[in-house]
Amino acid sequence: MDWVKGFYSRTGSWWGRAESRGTERDQRRVALLHEYAGPGPHRVLELGAGYGTTAAATAAAGHDVTAVEITDRVDFATADTYTLVRDDFYRVRLPGRFDVVTYWNGFGVGSDEDQRVLLRRIAGEWLRPGGVALIDICNPFVWARWDGDEEHRLPRPEDGYEYELFERTTFDPETCTAYDTWWEAGRPDDKITQVLRCYTPADLDLLLAGTGLRRSAIAGGGRALLDDNHEYLAVLTPTVA
Ligand SMILES: C[S@@+](CC[C@H](N)C(=O)[O-])C[C@H]1O[C@@H](n2cnc3c(N)ncnc32)[C@H](O)[C@@H]1O
Repeated sequence: MDWVKGFYSRTGSWWGRAESRGTERDQRRVALLHEYAGPGPHRVLELGAGYGTTAAATAAAGHDVTAVEITDRVDFATADTYTLVRDDFYRVRLPGRFDVVTYWNGFGVGSDEDQRVLLRRIAGEWLRPGGVALIDICNPFVWARWDGDEEHRLPRPEDGYEYELFERTTFDPETCTAYDTWWEAGRPDDKITQVLRCYTPADLDLLLAGTGLRRSAIAGGGRALLDDNHEYLAVLTPTVA
C-alpha cells in the first residue's frame, strides 16, 4: 500500500483544480445514501474522501459528516460544513459511532487481509448497531475488458485539466487485480500505478465472512454488472444487530 499517498497526491495535483467542484455524481451518492439508510439526519463517516466534494454534498443534505483522507487532496476542500480529518483510516481514532459509513470509489487497495482489517474496523468500531455501510467495489467484469487499453488525454485548461497525460490499464485475471498506470507526456520513465483488487459479489461475500458485516443489497448488480460500470455499490449491514 506504499504507493497510495504518492499516487493520489500526484493525481490530485493534476486534477484537483478540475475535480474539487461538486458535481451531479455527489448528488447521486447522497441519493443512494438516502435510499439505503433513509433520510436521516445521520451521523456519517466518509472514508477516503479525496477533495471532499461528496462530504460537502452530504453535509448540505443535513447530515453530520466526518471525512477521513490521507493525502493533500484535502487542501482542495473548501467547505467548512463537515469535520475533515487528515489521517490514515487504518490508524485513525474517531469518537462515537456512526449511522452510515461510506467509501465511495477507492475500496480494494492492498491484500484481502488489508480489506478485512478495514471491514472489521467499520463493523466493530464505527458503525452503530442497525447502521449501514455503503462501499463502491471495483467490478472485475469491466476492468477485465479494459485490459491493454491505452488512452491519451489532452489538456483542457478551461475545465481545470492542465496536464497532457497517458493512461494504460491492465488486468491480472488470476489475482482479479486491475493495474491503472498514468504518466505525463514527455515523462514516460515516471509512471505511477494504482493497484485495485476487484471483487465479484460472490467473492465479496467470501471476503466479508467473519468481519461482522454482510451484504444486504447491491446497487448496479445483477446483469448490470456486465454493462460498462467499473464499480458497483455494496450495501453492508452488521451481522449482529
Ligand atoms: C480513488 S480516490 C476517490 C476519492 C473520493 N472518494 C471520490 O470518489 O472522489 C480514493 C481516495 O482514498 C484515499 N485513501 C486511500 N487510502 C487511504 C487511507 N488508508 N486512509 C485515508 N484515505 C485513503 C486516497 O488518498 C484517495 O483520495
